[in-house]
Amino acid sequence: MEDVYATIAQSDPTVQERIAGILELRASDPQQEEFLDSYLKSVPFPDGAKVLEIGCGTGPVSRAVSRLGQVSEVVGIDPSPVLLDHALALGAEYPGLSHLLADARELPFEEHAFDAIILHTSLCHIPGADRVLAEAFRVAKPEGLLVVFDGDYAATSLAIDDNDPLEAVARAAVKVMAYDRWLVRKLPGLLLQAGFEVVRSRAFAYSAACDAAYMLTILDRGADALEAAGVIGANLAAALKEEGRERADNGKFFGLISYGNMLARKPQGA
Ligand SMILES: C[S@@+](CC[C@H](N)C(=O)[O-])C[C@H]1O[C@@H](n2cnc3c(N)ncnc32)[C@H](O)[C@@H]1O
Repeated sequence: MEDVYATIAQSDPTVQERIAGILELRASDPQQEEFLDSYLKSVPFPDGAKVLEIGCGTGPVSRAVSRLGQVSEVVGIDPSPVLLDHALALGAEYPGLSHLLADARELPFEEHAFDAIILHTSLCHIPGADRVLAEAFRVAKPEGLLVVFDGDYAATSLAIDDNDPLEAVARAAVKVMAYDRWLVRKLPGLLLQAGFEVVRSRAFAYSAACDAAYMLTILDRGADALEAAGVIGANLAAALKEEGRERADNGKFFGLISYGNMLARKPQGA
């Protein structure tokens, strides 16, 4: 089993519908909202900024960006028609917000079209991160900004002790969660290679100790992946999912995801 996002347009529409629910669930998680607010506040968008979100999914990040005072226009692109339908419906009332079916590796825009480009948990899912960043560089204005926020998924953990079986589930989940689970650690080099200057780097830690809802979707994906690979049977997969829910009900659940955030700039004259 591979990262479903990497070939999302070819996946079953029912899978895309399930993903739409997970993306909105994650976006409404208070910690995730805090991460987004925190990094957006520190991006020096120029007044009247025209912003592109690459891999917008159901559009929660595009909607948040379009609420910012300095931003006048936001375009969200995604290759999944199912996710885009949700983005269109949820963003209908937002002035200056539009969505387009497109692939990050072949953006349908002229060069120098955007003041800022955002990749929020999308770059690690797209095969060919170097091509995505080359396209982002092309469509960014000189001195245009690039903001990347992505999961450092290799470090994801569900363990509460040595040899906790949920940690094996976390490792299985990580393999299907991202096309490149090491992307965040390669990002500085990839940005430089694409021609960007790195302005700032930050990390965020997501702890699911108090609210396990989003992290339980990851537990389920890991257990399903182990079952699909024939490593465990259906009974054990169900028992592992149940173990996670019991821990959550009893206040014993632990889950951790680290995120990396980088702000980069296209040099003047480029
Ligand atoms: C984890 S979701 C993030 C969605 C949104 N940015 C958010 O944070 O809610 C990853 C997104 O990357 C998109 N994606 C996958 N392949 C892509 C590609 N080749 N070009 C653009 N987006 C892509 C997926 O369709 C999906 O919406």
